[in-house]
Amino acid sequence: MGQKVTKAVFPVAGMGTRFLPATKSIPKEILTLVDRPLIQYAIDEARAAGITEFIFVTSRGKGALEDYFDHAPELESSLQKSGKSELLSIVKNTNMESGAIAYIRQHKALGLGHAVWCARRLIGDEPFAVILPDDVITGDVPCLKQMVDAYEETGGCMVSAMEVSRDKTSAYGILGVREESGPMFSVSEMVEKPAPGEAPSNMAVIGRYILTPQVLSNLDEMKKGAGGEIQLTDAIATEIREGRDVYGYQFSGQRFDCGSKAGYLQATVAFGLAREELRDEFAAYLDQISAAKKAAE
Ligand code: UTP
Repeated sequence: MGQKVTKAVFPVAGMGTRFLPATKSIPKEILTLVDRPLIQYAIDEARAAGITEFIFVTSRGKGALEDYFDHAPELESSLQKSGKSELLSIVKNTNMESGAIAYIRQHKALGLGHAVWCARRLIGDEPFAVILPDDVITGDVPCLKQMVDAYEETGGCMVSAMEVSRDKTSAYGILGVREESGPMFSVSEMVEKPAPGEAPSNMAVIGRYILTPQVLSNLDEMKKGAGGEIQLTDAIATEIREGRDVYGYQFSGQRFDCGSKAGYLQATVAFGLAREELRDEFAAYLDQISAAKKAAE
């Protein structure tokens, strides 16, 4: 039913104020988990889901992101000459095929919906994925791949979903759950950052979406009408209001909110422990500091 999804939009034009002062000169997406920048995890996830065109919505000061995907002939030949073949293949894995990657500027940070809208001409008239690189998701099957597979059966719009505790609803877009079948459910409403008492459920939207081009038209209208932040959630909610299908997909895997300091630190620990060459030394250190903390209490 759903058309094949080959394009992904990466909105990375936000200011990353929660990571100041680092983000004064480094884009948030270049911050590393162990030794790989956040953006690399997002690209790998997109590739695993069959994405072949990568669209970045950037802003001033994001040059390091564009450089990151360039080929680095001097570095590569130096690694080759010194026989560092493992490092060479790590570096080569970051190269993007010419023409596979496009950058577009969001001139003003008017919100996530506006950032996606800025990419409309590159997206054209086909369904597309949106990946927020600061949501890092681990799991046996990458999150977007789970969604793309489900989308082939359903079409419509699809958002990734995760249960959160009731007192946290005001930090997320929250979904009304209509009908469930396995990990997927039909969405009856979407509310941006509701207070716990007003939330239709505790099912939150996480940073992975598959959207129809109709959502871009909805954003067109919002651009004309609204001031302030232009929310992606509102443009998807319009789909529900006009009687078109929107699905939530409760992915299997663990999500880290690397846009927040606490989430980023948790991810650093989890990814450090997942690395074979670091695990023993790092785990021993964590044991040591937690024992010292207990002793001090
Ligand atoms: P956030 O809400 O995390 O904002 O945006 P932020 O600017 O990145 O970080 P803080 O809150 O100031 O620390 C969620 C995603 O939407 C993108 C961001 O780059 C991030 O990937 N975004 C947000 C845009 O591309 N443009 C915007 O106008 C707003």
